[in-house]
Amino acid sequence: MSEQGSSQGNQYPPDPELSKTANARPEMKEQGLEEFWDEQAKQRIDWFEPYETVLDWQLPYAKWFVGGKLNACYNCVDRHVEGGKGDKVALHVVPDDGSDSADAHDITYAQLQRQVVKFANGLKKLGVGKGDAVGIYMQMIPDAVVAMLACARIGAPHTVVFGGFSGKAVDERCTDFGAKVLITQDEALRGGKAGAQKKNADDGLSADTTIEKIVVVKRTGGDVPMTDGRDVYYDDLVADLDDDPSSCPCEPMDAEDLLFLLYTSGSTGKPKGVVHTTGGYLTGVTTTTNLVFDVKDDSVYWCAADIGWITGHSYITYGPLANGLTSVLYEGVPGYPDKDVWWKIIEKYGVTILYTSPTAIRSHMKWGEQYAQSRDLSSIKILGSVGEPINPEAWEWYRKYVGGGSAPIMDTWWQTETGHILITPLPGITTLKPGMAQQPFPGVKPEIRDDEGNALGLNQPGNLVLTQPWPGMMRGLYKDDERYRDTYWSKYSDAYFAGDGAKYDDDGDIMLMGRIDDVTNVSGHRISTFEVESALVEHELVAEAAVAARRDPDTGQAIVAFVSLVGENQGDDELKQTLREHVATQIGKLARPAELIFAHDLPKTRSGKIMRRLLKNIAEGEELGDTTTLVDPSVVEVMQKQVNPT
Ligand code: PRX
Repeated sequence: MSEQGSSQGNQYPPDPELSKTANARPEMKEQGLEEFWDEQAKQRIDWFEPYETVLDWQLPYAKWFVGGKLNACYNCVDRHVEGGKGDKVALHVVPDDGSDSADAHDITYAQLQRQVVKFANGLKKLGVGKGDAVGIYMQMIPDAVVAMLACARIGAPHTVVFGGFSGKAVDERCTDFGAKVLITQDEALRGGKAGAQKKNADDGLSADTTIEKIVVVKRTGGDVPMTDGRDVYYDDLVADLDDDPSSCPCEPMDAEDLLFLLYTSGSTGKPKGVVHTTGGYLTGVTTTTNLVFDVKDDSVYWCAADIGWITGHSYITYGPLANGLTSVLYEGVPGYPDKDVWWKIIEKYGVTILYTSPTAIRSHMKWGEQYAQSRDLSSIKILGSVGEPINPEAWEWYRKYVGGGSAPIMDTWWQTETGHILITPLPGITTLKPGMAQQPFPGVKPEIRDDEGNALGLNQPGNLVLTQPWPGMMRGLYKDDERYRDTYWSKYSDAYFAGDGAKYDDDGDIMLMGRIDDVTNVSGHRISTFEVESALVEHELVAEAAVAARRDPDTGQAIVAFVSLVGENQGDDELKQTLREHVATQIGKLARPAELIFAHDLPKTRSGKIMRRLLKNIAEGEELGDTTTLVDPSVVEVMQKQVNPT
């Protein structure tokens, strides 16, 4: 993003009424690290056995709430039922065809408990027990949340693979984790169309897969291939199983037991298995949900993310349910069946908190405010944004047309690795500046440093680091200590290196400035240029490939791939299409390059190094500067002729 918020732009002080009632208190920022989190963990989490030590910090590994025993599912479900909130709606389920759909329905906490128990008994029947990895490859249907909670209930760590990823991506991740059971659904339903899901999973299974059983939840009832002895429909699996909570008690887990792995893109190599454990993660997501979104007993909360990403884990499943909230769970996509479907949902359920991405906001903005204006959105109290920097225009639009001109927007910065929100304004406390995440959450200590490790002052762009641990921080990369240390703890020996550029404005508020590594951010989805390059060179006609990102007014960034072909092949539009689809089947549709450019070679220096800076300039349609060090400067001219920057 080029233009972002600054202290020169608009500022919005907190509403004094909100300041009086807000859950977050200014004094929290004055508390000591351990004091703050100790208080939160005791107040918000039910422990089967109390912890002895709040924090054991042996850089770069933290242990939180050491010795404590708890269960995430118990905290998200059972305790609410036991506490008399069984009839409260946990999920307003909104199917693909919107809130008017005949299939729209509510699930109370008591019903959720029974569904989770039944699912957990089904997993047990398949032999899954404490410590056994389970893969989940599903769309935004309630069964996906139920499956996650069922795993947590029996102490089986899950790895959710985004439903839009390819089967190959599913197999790679599940096999890396050693998952024997994969839970999926027959078909995906998005934008009114049924698409493959179970079949994708089948197609991706490799010869050395660890997956032995596939549980198939029926969504469309479509005809999908089933392999005898390996695949089972969920309904058949659980037909005669109990759903009484006493039939499957919540397994007491150590605070540091694995809750899940979530694979994410790094700048090189295979996706990284980010490790999250139980006690610290749950405390972190429960506390941040409560304070950042100022949730109350009667809040109606909607996080319009996908459970396949960390936002879905932390702010659709664990955070809101641990707070006993009523949430909307939405299967669909913005704009279907109508462009006002989101606003209808808010109107129908009286949504008070909406948490979404800048990309989604920009889509709505493009369609026009008339859709939002045609609905009653007066229930909205708090808005959230996540995944990428939000440009001030989108921020202002969001506040004006969705937030009734007054709802505060929480621009939340965090990562798969951080587990929960770390930099964000707080309702009733922070004077908001459009386009900036602004302030560290209590207990979080950011710094902005130059490459030599010097702490930078106001208006000096540098690298964002965190100098203190937080409860939801990853506990490493799965079976890869070296990569964990290299990626996050080697640039600076004493601080977590986030991979984001940032600077302080005139007032010391933090402005995020995008990734500084080869990780692109398309519509808030992290994709490494390396992964796309690897997928391209796997195609038999591709000799070499290099990928750059250019700015995109809708998706934040867009992927541009530069490809040289084997032999004399010049390439044509048909081959471009073939290669784009090839990337989609290898990784997933979200990684499909927006543009593909052919040339007889890539721009290389005499030592054979690809000049990536040039690729970025070409992709952006910018001046190239000095190209004299190139072996063959004609390459860039050929490329430039093909680019259509937006
Ligand atoms: O570059 C930052 C960007 O998203 C990256 C993390 O991506 P992921 O692990 O997929 O998690 C996304 C959801 C938390 C970060 O390194 N990012 C996330 N939130 C923001 C952001 N950039 C600017 N402002 C944000 N609010």
